[in-house]
Amino acid sequence: MRPLRLYVNVDHVATLRQARKTDEPDPFAAAREAEAAGADGITVHLREDRRHIQDRDVEAIAAGVRTVCNLELAIRDEIVSIACQLKPYQVTIVPERREEITTEGGLDLSQRDARLRTAIRRLDEAGIHLSLFIDPDLATIDAAKDLGVPAIELHTGRYSHHWRDGNAALDELRRAADHAAAMGLAVHAGHGLTYHNVQPVARIEAIEELNIGHSIVSRALFTGIATAVREMKQLLTEART
Ligand code: PXP
Repeated sequence: MRPLRLYVNVDHVATLRQARKTDEPDPFAAAREAEAAGADGITVHLREDRRHIQDRDVEAIAAGVRTVCNLELAIRDEIVSIACQLKPYQVTIVPERREEITTEGGLDLSQRDARLRTAIRRLDEAGIHLSLFIDPDLATIDAAKDLGVPAIELHTGRYSHHWRDGNAALDELRRAADHAAAMGLAVHAGHGLTYHNVQPVARIEAIEELNIGHSIVSRALFTGIATAVREMKQLLTEART
């Protein structure tokens, strides 16, 4: 089986720092340690409300990582402009609502959204690889393909809530991943994946990249980031062999 990339989301290192608005812990330092331990990329979400990652974090990470930076953003002109200026390797467009605790659903692609098309064009012209965060729904995947992006990230939230209740959510992910890959889309996935539930998702061969944050940062409190990343990488490697 093809190897599976692990992109480590360091948002919650910034969450801890922002609890006191000091300068520690530093998400860039965490990113470098995650890379040294085998992360294939570093993901950050620059939210409009700046509740965790700050502009200076994205600047440091986009310029300073040795692997690649995947910047998650919503289609706000101001944030898209920051991305076009900093040129991270990849941008994943996500929906964002101020009152949500975390990104709750995928993008709604059912309507023709001129703002989304404009953002895609601007980011594409800046030479940034693009991915759309969407629910594992076949019609939404078709709509993403129509928008001309090379990649999608499947929202694994439903799976992460229901993986103990049977195979329906996993089957839905597999069907969606196979459908997208058959259309030539690169398939990423993430949200709510943990050390306990990641392996069945990692066995879906059409998926080539996982974005995982909360579970890794949580474990890192007890083990350190390097060990937490190595243990997650090990689970992915085992799942693919
Ligand atoms: N992928 C996307 C698009 C996200 O918005 C998030 C959360 O920031 C993740 C993956 C990672 O989710 P988690 O922190 O639950 O691993």
